[in-house]
Amino acid sequence: MNYRPQTTVILAMTADGKIADYQNAPARFGSQVDQAHLEEQIHLVDGVLFGANTLRAYGTSMSIRDPQLIQARRDRNLPTQPIHIVASASGELDQNFKFFQQPIPRWLLTLPENNHDWQDKNLFERVLTAKVIKTKNQATNQSDRFNWQLILARLKELGINKLAILGGSTLVSSLFEIKAIDEIWLTVCPFIFGGKNSPTPVSGAGWVQSEAIELNLLEVRQIGQEMFLHYAVKT
Ligand SMILES: NC(=O)c1ccc[n+]([C@@H]2O[C@H](COP(=O)([O-])OP(=O)(O)OC[C@H]3O[C@@H](n4cnc5c(N)ncnc54)[C@H](OP(=O)(O)O)[C@@H]3O)[C@@H](O)[C@H]2O)c1
Repeated sequence: MNYRPQTTVILAMTADGKIADYQNAPARFGSQVDQAHLEEQIHLVDGVLFGANTLRAYGTSMSIRDPQLIQARRDRNLPTQPIHIVASASGELDQNFKFFQQPIPRWLLTLPENNHDWQDKNLFERVLTAKVIKTKNQATNQSDRFNWQLILARLKELGINKLAILGGSTLVSSLFEIKAIDEIWLTVCPFIFGGKNSPTPVSGAGWVQSEAIELNLLEVRQIGQEMFLHYAVKT
């Protein structure tokens, strides 16, 4: 399938499968090895995509700082940093986020009616206004309104061949729902967060067991107290 970029989800989770605590605090429970792993994955792609709540939690996005990784991108004739793409249906983002001072290319994906003059503010290099798709969840879940097939095709047209999906679970579930995820890296970290409101890697309505998304385990690495699991999504 080449109508869309190749996609890899990269997330850290606790041993009980949570990607944040019940307060939705930014996930800073991964070790430095995990941070380096994330940076390495990011250096492989043309763009990184994340949901607005992830940006709201962190206020920043991870840029590539390791000189060797930057050089490796230069050697492949890639820009030093991939494009950082925020998905925000509402377009409601705080302009004081440190994200807007980071030396990275930024794109916004929003709905046409929520553009909020972002185009004129020079904070995003590109504002993509996504067409709306009507879904049966529309009344209750505004996040289901992006037409991801069209968006991903547009990103591909714009030169994004490899895309890293950095969370959160709302965004990841939307992309799983249209079978647009190819691979997953999960770092299992030695913590338990518990709590029924703590997010897991994939939210949404879920799938019954007989329709579950199946994975192939490609690779397992244990480094220190963490396990790095690499899966391909079965087609
Ligand atoms: N452990 C990790 O590796 C990791 C990584 C990333 C995030 N996290 C955690 O995950 C939590 C955030 O996850 P989350 O599920 O709440 O949020 P999210 O997926 O980061 O963001 C959700 C928001 O993004 C926009 N969005 C996402 N999918 C959309 C869609 N299909 N259509 C339209 N808009 C869409 C909407 O923005 P608007 O609200 O602007 O409409 C939506 O409210 C935070 O606590 C963060 O710390 C953990």
